Amino acid sequence: MSRIAIVTGGTRGIGRAICEKLRADHGCTVVANYGGNDDAAKKFSDETGIAAIKFDVGDHAAVRDGCSQIESEHGPIDIVVNNAGITRDGTLLKMSYEEWDDVMRTNLGGCFNTAKAAFPGMKDRKWGRIVNIGSINGQAGQYGQVNYAAAKSGIHGFTKALAQEGARYGITVNAIAPGYIDTDMVAAVPEPVLEKIVAKIPIGRLGRAEEIARGVSFLCSEDAGFVTGSTMSINGGQHMY
Ligand SMILES: NC(=O)c1ccc[n+]([C@@H]2O[C@H](COP(=O)([O-])OP(=O)(O)OC[C@H]3O[C@@H](n4cnc5c(N)ncnc54)[C@H](OP(=O)(O)O)[C@@H]3O)[C@@H](O)[C@H]2O)c1
Repeated sequence: MSRIAIVTGGTRGIGRAICEKLRADHGCTVVANYGGNDDAAKKFSDETGIAAIKFDVGDHAAVRDGCSQIESEHGPIDIVVNNAGITRDGTLLKMSYEEWDDVMRTNLGGCFNTAKAAFPGMKDRKWGRIVNIGSINGQAGQYGQVNYAAAKSGIHGFTKALAQEGARYGITVNAIAPGYIDTDMVAAVPEPVLEKIVAKIPIGRLGRAEEIARGVSFLCSEDAGFVTGSTMSINGGQHMY
């Protein structure tokens, strides 16, 4: 059976790798959501043949309408990968209220909004997979990221609570906590800071987007039907707990 999957923030970085992996492993019809970078989305669709749809995951009405559009064009959504995320770094003393709000509404609010739109259909069909992309910095904290660490930590709690609600309907809800992965997001980290980070990764290098996508693919499979409420850390051994 061909499942329908939505990957938020699917046009670049980790999300792009997830889109391609879900299609390759499961023959899914995948739709990638994105926030505003039309050029990157066009490049993605031209290169992969995967459809892209623009809406802000932090805007619940836009998410509801976007998911309805996907369902009318492709069919009911079986798989949600909540991957869209941003950083607005700064110490608490310097962080603006807007930087706090932007990160909370995108990174954490986005998970709620997309799950809220897709969960009722999954419940009716008694099958669903929701995978939320957290972060090592939600597990361990990170200087200059009270907003990001709080939102990502919130994702891990959200995952465990929703897993309990979904279990009776055949819906599994899991999270992946990536370590530092070689994407545009990490390219924004200053080189000297990045060198210090890599020095703390026992495996001795940044992760690759495909390495996160493999974990997502497993969690979306039939074989993972007994895995729910879990967080899979994929971080080169940088943080263990
Ligand atoms: N890279 C890492 O080392 C790392 C580590 C731990 C966790 N993560 C998490 O993994 C996820 C992907 O990270 P990445 O490094 O692949 O990021 P990225 O390269 O910066 O790509 C981010 C994606 O999210 C989309 N996006 C941003 N804001 C959005 C919004 N409001 N609505 C819809 N889409 C939005 C972007 O769309 P546009 O192209 O339109 O901007 C883009 O497709 C994030 O949740 C991030 O926090 C990353």
